[in-house]
Amino acid sequence: MVAPAYASDTSGLDFQQFVEEFAGKKDFFVELASATLSVAGTALAVRSADEAFKASPEGKIQQALAKAMEPFEPSRPQDEVIQRPVMETLRQRIASWQQHATIIGGRYQSGKSVATEEALRGARGVVRFTIRSAEWTDRMCKHLGVDDEGLFKEVMRRAREKLKDFPDNLTKFPILLLEVPRTTTKGINLISSTAKDVATDKIGSAIHVIVSASSAAVALAFDAGGTERQEDIWVGDLTEEEAKEFLALHGHGNKWEDFVDACGFRIGNLAKACENLKKGMSLDNTKQEYQRLATVEVVRFMELQVHPKVTGREM
Ligand SMILES: Nc1ncnc2c1ncn2[C@@H]1O[C@H](COP(=O)(O)OP(=O)(O)OP(=O)(O)O)[C@@H](O)[C@H]1O
Ligand SMILES: [Mg+2]
Repeated sequence: MVAPAYASDTSGLDFQQFVEEFAGKKDFFVELASATLSVAGTALAVRSADEAFKASPEGKIQQALAKAMEPFEPSRPQDEVIQRPVMETLRQRIASWQQHATIIGGRYQSGKSVATEEALRGARGVVRFTIRSAEWTDRMCKHLGVDDEGLFKEVMRRAREKLKDFPDNLTKFPILLLEVPRTTTKGINLISSTAKDVATDKIGSAIHVIVSASSAAVALAFDAGGTERQEDIWVGDLTEEEAKEFLALHGHGNKWEDFVDACGFRIGNLAKACENLKKGMSLDNTKQEYQRLATVEVVRFMELQVHPKVTGREM
């Protein structure tokens, strides 16, 4: 059989010659193939060993620890935040912390979360969790990727050790930042007892628990074992200067009095009014909306549960 002309023409290679050359190099090709396979096999083995480690308790601890040791990043960029004296108060409390939980209280939307996060900006050793149910400890562990509270405490114990490598860090102690939205009215006593439990340096594993409670009622109901066992920091309304600064940041510096007249000095209300205005809702309508929401807040307060019974109504 005659090979097609183009085959020999373009390849420039005699078929017989190619077979002979391949035969001569066969061992090399086989070796290459098996080497390639074993590289792939080794990669697979390494990968499954790596996955098995990550799934082990030790692997989970290390991953949670690495995350906790990253510099804390607030949800809001720094240039969108006005600095408030309460942030400095918080930083001082965090930097000089020795024991007991810190409760950040204040009216709904007074700026507690932003102030707390801003005070912690860049700090290492912070774990943040939002409590949405009475069984929050299990959920928190799941969220952190550890199996149980014992492993969580181990993460925090190691975080404290690691913080020694960062002498300039805001704090030498790990922080558990608990956000309690105002929709959470149950399980407050568990927060109190957990905070009390972890906030002592019994076994060299003290954790500074900071509770940012959306509802003032929750902050008031919090009890880490008597007032001497907790430090309360109140985030109040804006001062006139702060309100001007905030409204200037949103381009309404020249109309700050109108805003304050409609919403008062609560920063969240002013922020919402700015947002509403962008969407075409007048300041007057925003004011009416706030009056309606104030009623909802009273009802929520009355449903507050501290012990298994409804407590808010009594308060
Ligand atoms: N320092 C600040 N600089 C700029 N904007 C702020 C600041 N503090 C609060 N805000 C604005 O006010 C809103 C409410 O603030 P924040 O969520 O901190 O209040 P809060 O008291 O934690 O509210 P909640 O009671 O719902 O937990 C924020 O979404 C933001 O728009
Ligand atoms: Mg909040």
